[in-house]
Amino acid sequence: MLNEKLHFYIEELIPGRNPMFSEMENYAQVHKVPIMEIAGIEALLQLLRIQNSKKILEVGTAIGYSALRMANALPKAQIVTIERDEERIQAAKEFIKRSEHGQQIILVEGDALEVEEAVSKFAPYDTIFIDAAKGQYKKFFEIYSKYLSDDGMIITDNVLFKGLVAESEIESKRIRNLVKKIDDFNHWLMDHPDYDSVILPVGDGVAISKRRGESYEKA
Ligand SMILES: C[S@@+](CC[C@H](N)C(=O)[O-])C[C@H]1O[C@@H](n2cnc3c(N)ncnc32)[C@H](O)[C@@H]1O
Repeated sequence: MLNEKLHFYIEELIPGRNPMFSEMENYAQVHKVPIMEIAGIEALLQLLRIQNSKKILEVGTAIGYSALRMANALPKAQIVTIERDEERIQAAKEFIKRSEHGQQIILVEGDALEVEEAVSKFAPYDTIFIDAAKGQYKKFFEIYSKYLSDDGMIITDNVLFKGLVAESEIESKRIRNLVKKIDDFNHWLMDHPDYDSVILPVGDGVAISKRRGESYEKA
């Protein structure tokens, strides 16, 4: 999205991570686990710091990298994170157990489309971070936005999908269908009457949505 030179320039300015985060980045690369891009996660963490988020819901834990980065950046925050893939759940549990911030994380095992009840128990959330199956972003948003606090924000990753959303010709039918779903989500989100949203061309494209008006209150 940014030109390559600028992209590398920015990445090089980002300070190195602690040894466990470097190990997780390495693990993700070796095992082909998609974790958030470095510039994208730095932007996310900065937004969370500015908002001073105390409770965060993440849809899509993978191996716990972004959850632990959030816990590390906000030591007073609690992070509820959902993952359905058994192998990744096991890896996430191991990393969470080893981390001094592991206590801040509640891992909900299962499909995000089916674990609403468990997740609702910890609501309201100051931030909801959507980073799971791209074709289901609208569903995740609709299910979990009701548990957002009044001043809450929803952050959605991968909304520019490597720039493909702006491409008119995509050979692979599977990718073309996925791009169409993301593009539909982006239009739906930007036209949503209850949210002000902006898309930042950072990492793989990050949408930040802020609720307008009243919202969920815990009974
Ligand atoms: C991009 S990865 C998450 C990366 C992680 N947030 C990070 O940056 O470290 C997306 C994860 O979401 C999980 N996932 C996809 N759809 C899901 C669903 N419906 N319910 C739960 N997990 C889901 C996948 O198994 C995958 O591990």
